[in-house]
Amino acid sequence: PKPNIDPTAVLIKAYACQRRTPLKHHNSFLTDALEILSQNAEYNDNEGRSVAFRRAASVLKALPYRVKNMEDLKSLPCLGDHSQRVIKEILEDGSSREVESTRQSDKFQAMKALTGIFGVGVRTADRWFREGLRSPDDLFRTGQQLNRAQQAGVQYYDDLQKPVTKAEADVISDIVEKAVRAVLPGAEIRLMGGFRRGKEVGHDVDFLITHPEEGKEEGLMPKITNWLEEQGLLLYQKTTRNSYLEKMDGPARAPNNMDRFERCFSIFKLQTGSERASVSGWRAVRVDLVVSPYSQFAFATLGWTGSKLFERELRRWAGQEKHMSLSSHALFDSKQNLYLRAKTEEEIFAYLGLEFIPPSERNA
Ligand code: GTP
Ligand code: MN
Ligand code: MN
Repeated sequence: PKPNIDPTAVLIKAYACQRRTPLKHHNSFLTDALEILSQNAEYNDNEGRSVAFRRAASVLKALPYRVKNMEDLKSLPCLGDHSQRVIKEILEDGSSREVESTRQSDKFQAMKALTGIFGVGVRTADRWFREGLRSPDDLFRTGQQLNRAQQAGVQYYDDLQKPVTKAEADVISDIVEKAVRAVLPGAEIRLMGGFRRGKEVGHDVDFLITHPEEGKEEGLMPKITNWLEEQGLLLYQKTTRNSYLEKMDGPARAPNNMDRFERCFSIFKLQTGSERASVSGWRAVRVDLVVSPYSQFAFATLGWTGSKLFERELRRWAGQEKHMSLSSHALFDSKQNLYLRAKTEEEIFAYLGLEFIPPSERNA
């Protein structure tokens, strides 16, 4: 689309958190392929390989031009031999044999279907695959033992496979706001995840909730879920308590994506269709609710905006380049041996020595 860009003059930084990555870019024909290989590596429990392909794809998402030949890639970071081979084949032949055979393989398709069930991770899916199971129907047929989340996952499988639209996310926002206002006036609610980054569809809707008076937010989640239950709006919910303690969870803890906020994985019953009762129905929608103390709200906001790779790269940057440890709760400076307080995302980027990247350009 922009023929006058000289690819050799474009400088792309090595960490995704140093780059602007828009939602729409010029190289989906390559990034889709690399992401298949990334996903397949994840299914095979090879995290290093999975991240390598994901980083390669992410670099191509940040390019202001469509890749035409291998020369265009000369000065780009994060493109390993394997990724380059795949790209070369696609540029020359239109597709990569490795990617196509992966996409069509029994294992890939089964793992995709099984991990696509809410409550099912790679480990469980892999065990089922080795037992010969391939789909949610197979689980049902063979009477597999399922936990409560997985039962809901199988029950609402078709609905949960359907992307959630921004319009549906807005309706859910209104409901969540109403619920929160009813149980804790003055609380603040923010739409997070992919929708905050400007996505038009998502696999779920993510919310972060806080209250300007620190402490008021304690124990808030059960009140919210009770309110929602009473209105008949919840098909499933599992709440976990806040277990964060700065003393124990701070610098000593290994960097990890999972945080310790009070949170709720849920499935909403969302009314759909027109107002006329005769055609109104409902669908199931996955909703994540997270409650954060006000003092951690900026970190929680940064941590729950994503993308997943952007988050991972922020933490890697903090550790490797700044001797700091970043989580969704706090930023710890190992050199000064102290926690750095922040009220806004901008302040956190500044502490990290990074240019501020707005949410819409964190689609790494
Ligand atoms: P879609 O929902 O697929 O549209 O994309 P998304 O980017 O919204 O993904 P998701 O809902 O899975 O996650 C939203 C953000 O929250 C991402 O940045 C995740 O890294 C982050 N996230 C998800 N689960 C956790 C968690 O347990 N702890 C922390 N700290 N972050 C999480
Ligand atoms: Mn999401
Ligand atoms: Mn989520």
